[in-house]
Amino acid sequence: MPKSKESQAGGKTAIAIMAAGKGTRLKSKHPKVLHQVGGKPLLAHAIAAATKVIRANDVFAIIGHEAERVRAAVADSGVNFVLQKVQRGTGHALMAAREALSGYDQVIVLSGDAPLITPATIQKLREFHAKQKSAMTILTAVLPNPTGYGRVLRKGRGGDEVERIVEEKSASPAQKKMKEINSGFYAFAVEPLFRHIDKLGTDNPHGEFYLTDMAGVLRKAKQRVTAVAANDPQEILGANTRAELAAMDQRIRASKCEQLMAEGVTIFYPQTCVIDGDVEIGPDTVIQPIVQLRGRTRVGGDCLIGSYSVIRNSTLGDGVEILPGCVIDDSKVEAHATLGPYSRLRPGNVVGEGAHIGNFVEMKKTRMGKGSKAGHLTYLGDAQIGERVNVGAGTITCNYDGVLKHKTVIEDEVFVGSDTTLVAPVRIGKGAYLAAGSCITDDVPPDALALGRARQIVKDGWAKQKREARSK
Ligand code: UD1
Ligand code: CA
Repeated sequence: MPKSKESQAGGKTAIAIMAAGKGTRLKSKHPKVLHQVGGKPLLAHAIAAATKVIRANDVFAIIGHEAERVRAAVADSGVNFVLQKVQRGTGHALMAAREALSGYDQVIVLSGDAPLITPATIQKLREFHAKQKSAMTILTAVLPNPTGYGRVLRKGRGGDEVERIVEEKSASPAQKKMKEINSGFYAFAVEPLFRHIDKLGTDNPHGEFYLTDMAGVLRKAKQRVTAVAANDPQEILGANTRAELAAMDQRIRASKCEQLMAEGVTIFYPQTCVIDGDVEIGPDTVIQPIVQLRGRTRVGGDCLIGSYSVIRNSTLGDGVEILPGCVIDDSKVEAHATLGPYSRLRPGNVVGEGAHIGNFVEMKKTRMGKGSKAGHLTYLGDAQIGERVNVGAGTITCNYDGVLKHKTVIEDEVFVGSDTTLVAPVRIGKGAYLAAGSCITDDVPPDALALGRARQIVKDGWAKQKREARSK
């Protein structure tokens, strides 16, 4: 029988992600692992990498500080949660997971505050650990500025084996000069880990159980402790401060832009664009400076996205043109439609093929048919608008009666004159005309003309008389 992938990599493997800490250095009321980089919480990045290596069912997020908020934020990933009720250090976090991990042979430990880790590096750590038959393998990195990280003391120069890890705060001046740092990612054989974990002490500046001390503990117990360096030292960076969060966010954004450009998207001044990781963009689309594309947004090919536009969770077909200053949420814009400048699409719209939404037009839960136009200064809410409809400047759907929302239906080829108010619920039949300045309160049959405005009165000479009376 062919060997399964699992047994080749050293038995049944779990991934534990430490995410229970408070994150004191961020000076925040929010838990550290929920701070965002690249449009997603730190923890969501680590989970995404982990679940590319093994099934979500074998991933355990160790949560504690604001546990319920953290759980809710990443619950849809399908991973398991372990509660570390009080946070007494990274070693203590693993103690809390003892029971959850009892059915596994190996556990890979990740840090919930280090989001740049890739599936390839997790896999490399796993394979190295299995090949070395170690009790503990530490993923390391060589950093030009290692300040703040734990240092890995190898047994002999260049060997695979490790003596112990020394934390920055306890390091001697000579040790502080060492550039090979502990990434905070490890692989452990589960059995020796939990056989010896109770030997961890709290005799250190924080009075915590350090997982890093397991290296020394296992060594003393004559267990094999090894280290392997990450290919890209940037991958292991943690976010402990706001400045580190910002630097990391910038890094993620830059690589997203690079990926999109490699796929044929033009991005001017990519350093000014904020494009989330899950966004997709087709070739020959042009992104002007200062654009945000967030969430699950999908943009077709040959589109133009104008400066100062913010587009969230929306789908744009091919050849769509978004002029500057548009804000678009949870909407669909079909091929070759044009929007803006300064259009606002609140959630729930569909803008049909080749339709045009112009400046200062706000839409909400509205369907705009193929080739229809609303060029200027208009509010369309809860409306269903057919094809080739012309919506004049200043049109307003009065969709709200103070209690309930009502629907406006405008059938194909209707002409809505400027400054018309449509008091919903109301239906305008196919091909009808609404006279400018009308307040439409009743349904209009197809092909009719509806006028709903006061009749004009003209008083000859009135203005002249008034002026003359004033000058007397
Ligand atoms: C840790 C390592 C350090 C390493 C660095 C790499 C220790 C003692 N030190 O330091 O050697 O160079 O990572 O980034 O491990 N956490 C819990 N429960 C706790 C405490 C922490 O789940 O009781 C979680 C935190 O939420 C965080 C992770 O563990 O996601 C790491 O903790 P953190 O306090 O950031 O450790 P560092 O000081 O960065
Ligand atoms: Ca950290």
